[in-house]
Amino acid sequence: MENFIYSIPTTIYFGKGQIEHVSQAVRPYGKKALIVYGGGSVKKNGIFDRVTEILEHEGIAWEELGGVEPNPRIETVRKGAEFCKAGNIEVVLPIGGGSTIDCAKIIAAGALYDGDAWDLVLDGKKIQAALPIVAVLTLAATGSEMDTAAVISDMASNNKLGTKSEHIRPKAAIMDPSYTETVNAWHTAAGTADIMSHILESYFSNAEGYMQDRMAEGLLKTCIQFGIRAVEHPDDYEARANLMWAGSWAINDFLKLGKLVPWSVHPMEHELSAYYDITHGAGLAILTPHWMRHVLNTRTVEKFRTYGVNVWDVPADLPSMEAAELAIKRTADYFKALGLPSRLSEVGIDEKYLEIMAEKSASRMKGTYVELTKDEILQIFKEAM
Ligand code: NZQ
Ligand code: ZN
Repeated sequence: MENFIYSIPTTIYFGKGQIEHVSQAVRPYGKKALIVYGGGSVKKNGIFDRVTEILEHEGIAWEELGGVEPNPRIETVRKGAEFCKAGNIEVVLPIGGGSTIDCAKIIAAGALYDGDAWDLVLDGKKIQAALPIVAVLTLAATGSEMDTAAVISDMASNNKLGTKSEHIRPKAAIMDPSYTETVNAWHTAAGTADIMSHILESYFSNAEGYMQDRMAEGLLKTCIQFGIRAVEHPDDYEARANLMWAGSWAINDFLKLGKLVPWSVHPMEHELSAYYDITHGAGLAILTPHWMRHVLNTRTVEKFRTYGVNVWDVPADLPSMEAAELAIKRTADYFKALGLPSRLSEVGIDEKYLEIMAEKSASRMKGTYVELTKDEILQIFKEAM
């Protein structure tokens, strides 16, 4: 295990009705908030109205910026940053899923930055400050409510990039699992695949971390049990609650502290989203089993075997390679059972950009579990077509 500093300071208000704490969460940081939201789900299900009612009652002024796109665009970030500068906004309050929270994060950083907000996406070190962020989460998936990352797209240049800074980690997050009961089956399934991928990206690392790996296996089993339950029974509170909390812990740094390595599948998926604007979790569900098959070799087989035995109840007495292959098959079968696609062609991806997408993701493979070349990534894409 490598050295690390543990500090995950987001205050979490978890459970039914915790929205009542929203003013308590916002007030230490200011008296004027910008509420950021997406395509309108939060207006339909009443969460927006409840938040504004509480803020008004507590004397906190608010403005709103809606229309954040799934795979949020830099244009919306720029608009929000200008809004904050002109309107003397003190706190940014996203209500939504990862797209809304990510967009709000770079709005918050852009508000205190003199140049173009895209600079902050290209280089997280340029984020030297940000307005405080208090997030209200409505979809279990990205973990953005408790992490330091934001992923923003510039569709004009086909770039979807992640940036990171401790300054954009939310100060507080309201996590009421009942809010996620209106998330449809597609986004529930994609969110589950995204959470599982975040765990797997840290799990399949060349650095040792016995304790982190056992925690990871527990979180994976949680996703496996409750992802399917939430898809089949959208109003199953326990399923929603377990998924929501697992989503935060999958990526809030806890699993990777002491065994930090660059991720493998996410860089590939971000290229798919950048060129074809697909749902992130669906792209991960397609690529993950193909990536696993590709990196399975005599060096990695024992790790895959452990994954199979501890997560998928693969019989421990199977020969290692057979156990590893069964683990990968069970991973792929699970994504299918969630109703997710298993082929790139199913989400409208053709051969046109495979080369360029492979080249761009290969540039981010240094130090990954198994470093892949452009040609190997191209092969994975082709196998996934
Ligand atoms: O926009 P609205 O109308 O709110 O509808 C959204 C959207 O259409 C809907 N939704 C959200 N909550 C709902 C709901 N519908 C009904 N009831 C509710 N309670 O769900 C749709 C998808 O929302 P989105 O925010 O796009 O989904 P998700 O949370 O999966 O976020 C995906 C984005 O996050 C990035 C992804 O790349 C993608 O851009 N990621 C961010 C990460 C991070 N910050 O650490 C890490 C991830 O790996 C990921 O890359
Ligand atoms: Zn992800």
